[in-house]
Amino acid sequence: MARLPCVIVFLIATRIVAGEIKNVGWWKNAVFYQIYPRSFQDDNNDGIGDLKGITKRLDHFKETGIDAVWLSPIYASPMVDFGYDISDFRKIHPDYGTDADFTELISTARKLGIKVIMDLVPNHTSDEHEWFQKSLAGDEAYKDYYIWHDKPTDGKPLNNWISVFGGSAWNCSSSRPQCYFHQFHYKQPDLNFRSDKVQEEMKDIIRFWLDKGIDGFRVDAIPHLFEVEDLRNEPRTNLPGVVDGEYAYLDHFYTKDQPETYDVVKSWVKLMNDYANASNTDEKVMTVEAYTFLNKTTEYYETGCQIPFNFYFITDVNRTSGPDQFKKVIDQWLTEIAGRPGAVANWVLGNHDGSRTASRYPGRGDQMTMLAMILPGVAVTYYGEEIGMIDKTDISYEDTQDPAGCNAGREKYKEKSRDPVRTPMQWNDDINAGFNQGERTWIPVNENFVELNLAAQKTAKFSHYKIYKKLIHLRKTHAALLTGKVETFVSSDKKILSVVRSSNTESIILIINFSDTETVTVNLVNQVPSIAAGGLVEVATLDSPINEGSSVNLRKLPIAPKQSLVISAKIQK
Ligand code: GLC
Repeated sequence: MARLPCVIVFLIATRIVAGEIKNVGWWKNAVFYQIYPRSFQDDNNDGIGDLKGITKRLDHFKETGIDAVWLSPIYASPMVDFGYDISDFRKIHPDYGTDADFTELISTARKLGIKVIMDLVPNHTSDEHEWFQKSLAGDEAYKDYYIWHDKPTDGKPLNNWISVFGGSAWNCSSSRPQCYFHQFHYKQPDLNFRSDKVQEEMKDIIRFWLDKGIDGFRVDAIPHLFEVEDLRNEPRTNLPGVVDGEYAYLDHFYTKDQPETYDVVKSWVKLMNDYANASNTDEKVMTVEAYTFLNKTTEYYETGCQIPFNFYFITDVNRTSGPDQFKKVIDQWLTEIAGRPGAVANWVLGNHDGSRTASRYPGRGDQMTMLAMILPGVAVTYYGEEIGMIDKTDISYEDTQDPAGCNAGREKYKEKSRDPVRTPMQWNDDINAGFNQGERTWIPVNENFVELNLAAQKTAKFSHYKIYKKLIHLRKTHAALLTGKVETFVSSDKKILSVVRSSNTESIILIINFSDTETVTVNLVNQVPSIAAGGLVEVATLDSPINEGSSVNLRKLPIAPKQSLVISAKIQK
């Protein structure tokens, strides 16, 4: 065979490597939805949600316009941290069903065009995992799978490191004369990512689930992957009211955000890209859970991870925040990622670890949904938030299941327990809200399901669900939301926040009145001089006197207290 010139060989090679991943970027304007499998739909009526239940409910996503679902862990686990303590990464917990149920879920989702991503929990395993049991027994092959250090002879702790759930991060074993490190519960020993074998194990697990046809991963607790090797003590935060043993007592400079973490994530993204490339499948997606400094979170973009979760609507604003604080949180993320080529924004409103959106922002949950949906990029919804579910705050200490709550003790469990946000999905007003057929549920159903449920909201003329669905429709069909740029404005009286998205021909404008008492009249034409003076209300909050479908004068538009409108307007040539 005649030799090809080098340049042609290079071009062919580049094509093979870069050209085969299908549907690159499918996730860029997508709505992701987090399913907490225990609480979503219980098909076998044992009180715990399951895979068959999820499969039966996949139509909900299709009908609503949700593009991708993320399943919190469904793997074998003693359930000390409800699946975030995995005892076999390849097995499905029998509470959730069988391998066949999982296959059925994936194939039904695929038929409906819904992507499925799975939780990957690399930082730790359960202490009941075979690797840990072997490591504990001193098996040479597994000795370094976890982070072991000799017991200090003076009986003092190894250092001052504190676990996220409270108390020392070290547990000294009786069978192996050493102590192991755990960032979370003592039954969740940390894996040692300085071991090449551990790194290979995790890659095998990633491949295993990709082979099952999943579309990517949400990676758990990623900033915790590495710690400094010399076990330096961490400095105190000196936060008022925080006592020794609480996680916030220390600044976690030596147990979080270590540079090696980013290299490992990069290797996983590469694996996923190579996989999609070799198997001719759609682009695989990675989201990472990284509660840390803004620049440390956005640094995950550099690894190729598409969706480093943006938690700033959870951590940096609350019910007392005004429009300028919201503007700051929005702008800082957009500015931070503007310097990162190809980075797409994302907006997370809630998850299984914190209070629900409608509880954090009483009477303003829909405004938050509007923000996440109208801002550019990916919107992430926690189950139940499409109907405005709220926290169930009256769960007793005796009934508390969450280790974070139990560890905090009777006095403080309500501050820490995550049970209130994990109650069963409220489908309808049947027994147990349609979650199952009447067996007791693993945590109680919120009694408000009688009025607050999906079925009722589907039939009501106006509802949270209808707002949610309309917003998804808008973001999929309106040119300004598909390609448009974004600007944010705060009115001079500091009562109104507006978000303006524009294409060449049209704008979509979200206006939020932060005042609880005053109607504020805005002149949007002053703000966006290129728009026509007449606009159309596409979506309105529930108590707004101006309804969806109304034509409005954008020079003089009254926004009632606590209300929001999403308006479309033509750009004048
Ligand atoms: C993440 C999960 C949380 C879990 C922890 C330990 O933060 O979201 O639910 O408890 O990691 O795995």
